[in-house]
Amino acid sequence: MDIQTVTLERQGAVLVATVDNPPVNALSHSVRAGLVDAVEALESDPQAKALVIVCAGRTFIAGADIREFNKPLKEPRLGVLIERLDRCEKPVIAAMHGTALGGGLEIALACSYRVALESARFGLPEVKLGLLPGSGGIVRLPRLIGVEEALAMISQGNQVDAEHALETGLLDEVMADDLRAGALAFAERIVAEGGAIRRTSDLPVPTIEPGFLDAKRAEFAKKFKGLDAPQIAVDLVEMMSTTPFQEAAAREYATCKELIASPQSQALRHLFAAERAALKIDGVPAEVEPREIRTVAVAGPGVMGRGIAICFLNAGYPVVLLGKDEENLSKGVGGIRKILESGVKRGRMTQEAADEQMSHLTPTLDYADLGAVDLVVEAVTEDLATKKDVFARLDAALPDRAIIATNTSFLDIEALASSVTRPENVAGMHFFNPANVMKLLENVRAGRTAPDVLATITSVGKKIGKVPVMVGRSEGFVANRMLSKRSREAQFLLEDGATPQQIDKVLSGFGFPIGPFALADLAGMDVMAAARKARLAGMTPREQACDIVDKLAAAGRLGQKTGAGYYLYGDDRKPQPDPAVDELLAAHRAERGLPQREITDEEILERCLYAMVNEAAKIIDEGAAARPGDIDVIWTNGFGWPTHLGGPMFWANRIGLPNVKAALEKYSALVGEEYFRPANLIESLVAEGRGFYD
Ligand code: COA
Repeated sequence: MDIQTVTLERQGAVLVATVDNPPVNALSHSVRAGLVDAVEALESDPQAKALVIVCAGRTFIAGADIREFNKPLKEPRLGVLIERLDRCEKPVIAAMHGTALGGGLEIALACSYRVALESARFGLPEVKLGLLPGSGGIVRLPRLIGVEEALAMISQGNQVDAEHALETGLLDEVMADDLRAGALAFAERIVAEGGAIRRTSDLPVPTIEPGFLDAKRAEFAKKFKGLDAPQIAVDLVEMMSTTPFQEAAAREYATCKELIASPQSQALRHLFAAERAALKIDGVPAEVEPREIRTVAVAGPGVMGRGIAICFLNAGYPVVLLGKDEENLSKGVGGIRKILESGVKRGRMTQEAADEQMSHLTPTLDYADLGAVDLVVEAVTEDLATKKDVFARLDAALPDRAIIATNTSFLDIEALASSVTRPENVAGMHFFNPANVMKLLENVRAGRTAPDVLATITSVGKKIGKVPVMVGRSEGFVANRMLSKRSREAQFLLEDGATPQQIDKVLSGFGFPIGPFALADLAGMDVMAAARKARLAGMTPREQACDIVDKLAAAGRLGQKTGAGYYLYGDDRKPQPDPAVDELLAAHRAERGLPQREITDEEILERCLYAMVNEAAKIIDEGAAARPGDIDVIWTNGFGWPTHLGGPMFWANRIGLPNVKAALEKYSALVGEEYFRPANLIESLVAEGRGFYD
């Protein structure tokens, strides 16, 4: 039996229904049933003239209960409750705080009146889960606030604040504090004035400017590449504008039901759960309190250090920026100012906010200025000796409680941890370039890192707006280690006869925002060649001999910055295939004695992606990632793996591990066993008839 989550009490002429279903008052069965009972109580009690729906805890109803999606639906479904609210002969008032989302907002839309705390926010985030509102959000919201505003919320999941909601007519009143008392007073006033009912469903259909919806379709095709729900949102808004209310509501519900079963929604819901699961760290029980972080330092004001400093400044932390000399420091400060200023120019922040953030930045050359710092992120040159030297100085200057987090992307974190007196305070915080933009944060656990340090870097990561995932010791950690396998296969495919444009087309067609060669041209061939040189000793003979990057760099083809790399670039910066590259590749193949053959798109996709999946399985085998879902979170947030495919492991799992294993064996024979031998994890799961998530 359900536990009771809705309690009712009458205060004079007003019934108050309080929903209390932690953590976010999701619309579980008991909440739906409790609210239907509340409407019935209102209707059957002659003393009760109005109903206020309010929530306990941190938020108003945050939507459908995602945990119930894969179970049989228990009546009353949300639509039944919404219908009861809509038809109710006495006024119902939604009193909202926190975030009124999804089904929570749909409930509010079916009420006669809506009031909220100033701090409340409102949204229809279903689209982010590959879904759309199915209980009246689409047929009611445009009637209330107009098509343009409504479509932005429905198709993009945009949240609006209370001030905006009041302006657009979504809210009737905003209160500074004591929502319950304010809502009660509001209800009493409505009752005193005659208890008028207002039904959103009675409002006229708003007009839609000709061409508006088509323009949105085109915009969303670009902005939400590969995602179905935003396009269907436009279709439904169009349908709503020409269809009688009840019929439109039924069609809205039918579409939502179809979407719940769609592969895209399953993938996006998997990611929602995986992102939250990734915050639960092995060996860190829930009762472990993170350390308090008041002041942060960033050591090394280079490109990464600047971006990292901005992440913390944006989140309101004072930041001490430690440089090695005047020039290095002033360049760093100038770089930070420039990035903030460009945020102002693009309308992302006000000038005052940028000035305020700059005032929280303390540049210094003196380690003695780190005496009050709680967390330092080290982002100096990727060189073990340099980093060890900085670590030793930090160790001497920092208070005992301070955490030292290195941003290294491939050095051994154990070697750094053992160079300080408090290795339990050492961890990794691996940001991705540009650090102030990219969402992924690979937090790295070293052998002796204390549990409360792991908890701290996780919670701080969230506070600065990142998606933190804990990884373990492993060369290149998870994201870059997997990327290096994709890059290897892309290079080998060039040797085997594919062209850069063919490979880029296949991978961007799959859903990546950019193909590997266009990306390399952006990064610069000099950078790619240097990275290759650093890793050369650990490479196989074929990888060592596959020196196309070096040849391009030697030819001065450094990428976009020189107008030529794998592609040619004109003024429009659009990559154009270049016959000179074909010649360079042909000469390379001849020199290596490699025959050129026709490469199919399927082979490109499979070799590039299965190489990554296989590597990820090895990473899990080694314990450097805790779960397949962590890999999915890393790749969707780090390197643009299309979210509607749920991440590499989710994608491979859907294909079926026996099929993946068979393909790995095929490419073992074709490319070499050392590259495609199936990981133990894949072998054993296939033998047991299980998938990655079983
Ligand atoms: N159904 C069931 N559980 C939900 C939920 C929902 N709609 N929304 C959140 N939760 C759970 C989370 O899984 C998490 O559980 P955990 O502590 O066991 O990991 C917990 O509530 C807290 O959520 P979290 O996202 O960590 O908290 P937050 O304060 O950062 O954000 C919300 C709160 C409500 C803004 C955010 O959870 C959210 O956007 N939820 C989805 C809302 C939605 O999409 N609704 C429409 C569904 S169709």
